[in-house]
Amino acid sequence: MVQIICLTFILLTMITDNIVSCQHNTPIQFPLINMLLKSAAPNYTPLFPGDPFDFLRDSFPLPNGLKNPLSEYDYIIVGAGSAGCVLAARLSEDPTVTVLLLEPGRPENFLTGVPSIAPYFQRTEYTWPYYMEPQPGVCLGMINKRCFWPRGRAVGGTGSINYMIYTRGRPEEWNRIAAAGNYGWSYEEVLKYYKKSERANLGGLENSPYRGRGGEMDIQFVNFRTPLVEAFLEAGRILGSPTVDYNSPEQLGFGYVQTNTRSGKRVSSARAFLRPNKKRSNLHIVPLATVTKVLIKKRSKTAYGVEYVKNHLKKKVTARREVILSAGPIASPQLLMLSGVGPKEHLKSFGIPVIQDLPVGKTLYDHITYPGLIFTVNVTGISMNENRDGNIQNVLDWLQFGDNVVASPGGVEAIGYIKTPLSNPQDQIPDIELISIGASLVADGGPTGSKAVRRGMMISEDIFNKAYGTIDNTDSWSVFPMLLHPRSVGYLELKDSNPFSYPRMYGNYLTHPIDVATLIASIRYAQALIATPPFQRYGMKLHKAQFPTCRGIQYDSDEYWECAIRTITATLHHQIATCRMGPARDPQAVVDPELRVHGINHLRVADSSILPRTVSVHTHAPAVMIGEKAADLIKYTWS
Ligand SMILES: Cc1cc2nc3c(=O)[nH]c(=O)nc-3n(C[C@H](O)[C@H](O)[C@H](O)COP(=O)(O)OP(=O)(O)OC[C@H]3O[C@@H](n4cnc5c(N)ncnc54)[C@H](O)[C@@H]3O)c2cc1C
Ligand SMILES: *[C@@H]1O[C@H](CO)[C@@H](O)[C@H](O)[C@H]1NC(C)=O
Repeated sequence: MVQIICLTFILLTMITDNIVSCQHNTPIQFPLINMLLKSAAPNYTPLFPGDPFDFLRDSFPLPNGLKNPLSEYDYIIVGAGSAGCVLAARLSEDPTVTVLLLEPGRPENFLTGVPSIAPYFQRTEYTWPYYMEPQPGVCLGMINKRCFWPRGRAVGGTGSINYMIYTRGRPEEWNRIAAAGNYGWSYEEVLKYYKKSERANLGGLENSPYRGRGGEMDIQFVNFRTPLVEAFLEAGRILGSPTVDYNSPEQLGFGYVQTNTRSGKRVSSARAFLRPNKKRSNLHIVPLATVTKVLIKKRSKTAYGVEYVKNHLKKKVTARREVILSAGPIASPQLLMLSGVGPKEHLKSFGIPVIQDLPVGKTLYDHITYPGLIFTVNVTGISMNENRDGNIQNVLDWLQFGDNVVASPGGVEAIGYIKTPLSNPQDQIPDIELISIGASLVADGGPTGSKAVRRGMMISEDIFNKAYGTIDNTDSWSVFPMLLHPRSVGYLELKDSNPFSYPRMYGNYLTHPIDVATLIASIRYAQALIATPPFQRYGMKLHKAQFPTCRGIQYDSDEYWECAIRTITATLHHQIATCRMGPARDPQAVVDPELRVHGINHLRVADSSILPRTVSVHTHAPAVMIGEKAADLIKYTWS
């Protein structure tokens, strides 16, 4: 009931704001999100006393009227992200152990549940506003030529602000990870954990042996589709890619997007795993608490607790059994290094006493894309568009049924895996994922709209207008090619020894020529795709983007596409491998195949940072799987 009153309040606010804004001729489709966007990270301060969002937030009060967390727990989990939430839920299943979960962000609110506005959270209080270090020759069309690397800061982590695309990777990819000495990580073995979390409700896949049905994380198709997605699947079939369940091991192909949603609403890890267990007296969740250091006994090299800051006060809490870092691929390596675990010389240069010399942060892979392939169509109203779709009636219908455009995960409708001519003909490992979007960068409202998507990517306004101004706010379709297995490898370092500084992140994007060639091959594939009858039915044409950075280069030459890719180089936010997993003999490994930090007792890392190499995935589902598996490994150790 309270919820209904709150929603009514929100909707009334939206309606009144809309009326007001119409009068002033500045239509703002989502005034509330706009307010959120203004409450800029990193230091959120309410816009005015009695921040209206507070009472719409989820909350995790300590049980039994406790005012403060205890001074000691069996397990301390650092970070309530995709992996940390499931780990906390599984470990606290045993009522005889105590679990503390520390998270710098806030609980989710009503808005984070709305899939269509996923792109709107990238510059809000729910994100860490990280930037990649400047790299010449990439992100040339981004503001200040910097690539933006936002990550989630919330109870729910990056899974609270992501696009909800659910993917698992190919069997060969997991099997080669296992073959490198990572026992327990073969496809068969990880499949068990994928299925454990999953509550699949996917029409047509009711009998699939690869899908889980008894878990807590709902996986569903999106109940809203534009006709353009049918064209994508049909065109794929014409070019030899069958329509499949891409999360089944059998075949490469295309398929409707599967998302971690329930009835058109986001199901983050917090929602799936923490919410139902709020009342457990042995699970203590503390938001707005930032861990600054893992406490490690120098002599015995044993982790025994953490230091954290809450309300500007420094606190200490000890762990009887283990500390587990689930702070994600940027903060987990940062915390290790701040605590004396990392490259020796690097730590010494900041005066950090070295406890264990390990290659923390030395490897960093990411998935990049070129989001600028925008195709115009000759049918009005066929694609998604903020101005047309962001209205109160749609929001009300979505609240009730969850089956309209508001349920679309930022416009993503299908994905497909392909092998370009540059991939290895000997294997069945794709080198490109295509993401079919029933909209594009120009669908976020145009000059008078929110511009949330282009702003979320931090594309320079001038370059955007020169390249896309003439088609802004018109109907369009778009395909994002994601480079699955980049040869270019990045790394990460501390900036200084202050835990509130952000590390220095180096993507080293496109430093290997094969990466450039593969992306160009994927653009050629996209061109072939839209030349097929299913797309030509809509008179589809690739918009000729005129980038000032590419002046003088012949349009549609390989050189032009390389320039375009280097101009709007965008990440899909799958940074991994900064706390790489590998056996002791592996000189690049930070954690062992049981996720224990090499050389340190009672300390594990359980999040996407342990992935040793790229997999054909968006990394949320793997992070959840890693959390599941970590829970079993830990339970086994202490049983
Ligand atoms: C915009 C965007 C869209 C994406 N879309 C998709 C998608 O559609 N599908 C998909 O599969 N993946 C997607 N991803 C990637 C995916 O969401 C992440 O890879 C995944 O959530 C990572 O999980 P994690 O558990 O490793 O880390 P996270 O979920 O990032 O969790 C880390 C947590 O640790 C907390 N933390 C940080 N520092 C500290 C500290 N000092 N002390 C305590 N806690 C700390 C953070 O606040 C955070 O809550 C997207 C990512 C972004 C940014
Ligand atoms: C769109 O273009 C195609 C191909 O030229 C044509 O067959 C179709 O009739 C056009 N549709 C409209 C609505 O103009």
